[in-house]
Amino acid sequence: MKKVQLLSLILITTGFILTSCYQSAKNKEMIKKENFGIHQGKEVFLFTLTNKEGNVLKLTNYGAKITWIEIPDKAGKKENITFGFDTFDGTVNDDPYFGSVVGRYANRIAKGKFTLDSKEYSLALNNGPNALHGGPKGWHSVVWNSEIVEKTEYPTIKFSYLSPDMEEGYPGNMQIEVVYTWTDNNEIVIDYKCTTDKKTILNITNHAYFNLHGAGNGDILDHELVIKASSFIPVDSTLIPTGEIRPVSGSPFDFTTQHTIGERILESYDQLIYGKGYDHNFVLDNKEDVDITVYEPVSGRLMEVITDQPGVQFYCGNFLDGKIIGHGGKPYIFRSGLCLETQHYPDSPNHANFPDTELKPGETFNSKTIYRFSVK
Ligand code: BGC
Repeated sequence: MKKVQLLSLILITTGFILTSCYQSAKNKEMIKKENFGIHQGKEVFLFTLTNKEGNVLKLTNYGAKITWIEIPDKAGKKENITFGFDTFDGTVNDDPYFGSVVGRYANRIAKGKFTLDSKEYSLALNNGPNALHGGPKGWHSVVWNSEIVEKTEYPTIKFSYLSPDMEEGYPGNMQIEVVYTWTDNNEIVIDYKCTTDKKTILNITNHAYFNLHGAGNGDILDHELVIKASSFIPVDSTLIPTGEIRPVSGSPFDFTTQHTIGERILESYDQLIYGKGYDHNFVLDNKEDVDITVYEPVSGRLMEVITDQPGVQFYCGNFLDGKIIGHGGKPYIFRSGLCLETQHYPDSPNHANFPDTELKPGETFNSKTIYRFSVK
């Protein structure tokens, strides 16, 4: 090698090392890791991620949860817009999945039964006659491993968990990784990756509740919603899909153009009665960049959701009743939070006409959902 080539190689390598060191030092500055408590004999941490705009995302490895999203309104006033608790005890108590990663099967499975290769599996029934959100001890209620990912452009945390064979009744050892990135563009990027050593089923989501007025500040009925979904999944009175995929056109489920959440919620449409409001999976068209937008005109806050998943469970807090007291001592009242849980359709293992939710050994499930915040 000529002297000059050697010199450039040394310069490039040094530059690369310096940039990486700078990047990882920068990442550390943008992430604060605190001891939050001990649960199930494992350490629980609270991670505070601050982006270049000075906006804050807080995460914990208990349930791989999002516990705080602090973003400005159009006047620049910053406020937390997601449900959670200030205390460790509040965070590890059973709340309705605030900010949690939910699995192994998010949403409902009829009578807790499904069949794989002619073998029937039975899950605990924790929602009337059905199984909900991975069971009573699903992924929302376990302590995950955590890691600050260095050498990335934005603050990034990786949570991982090995879900053992037959945990909550699901076959196969499943290795899960959930990576949260908090970008300077106020995006929470969630990357999911799962593998298994036996054929199993999988439906993973994040169950954050949002109120763009600020969490605990009234209801979400004035939020203006667009869901790019031409159909939705009707359910029976126990919220299990009937198997139909129904066009939204002409119904209160048509959010292909903007409507406030409250506008048609009291109509006497069977599905609104079964769900006590909206608590349904929408079949995303997946044709445009942004799949869902939520706009709250008073604060001017806008949330956009982008996903590669085939559906989204739109739940508007119909089961909240003010008994849960969250951040800042504020009660979470009826319809004070909305969830947009990107996922497969409920009860898919029991409906051959729904997209497949099986995962086999040798396959890797990869998926990405982005929640992006801005003002307008
Ligand atoms: C379900 C609701 C349920 C909520 C909290 C949502 O995903 O669709 O019916 O009440 O989670 O458990």
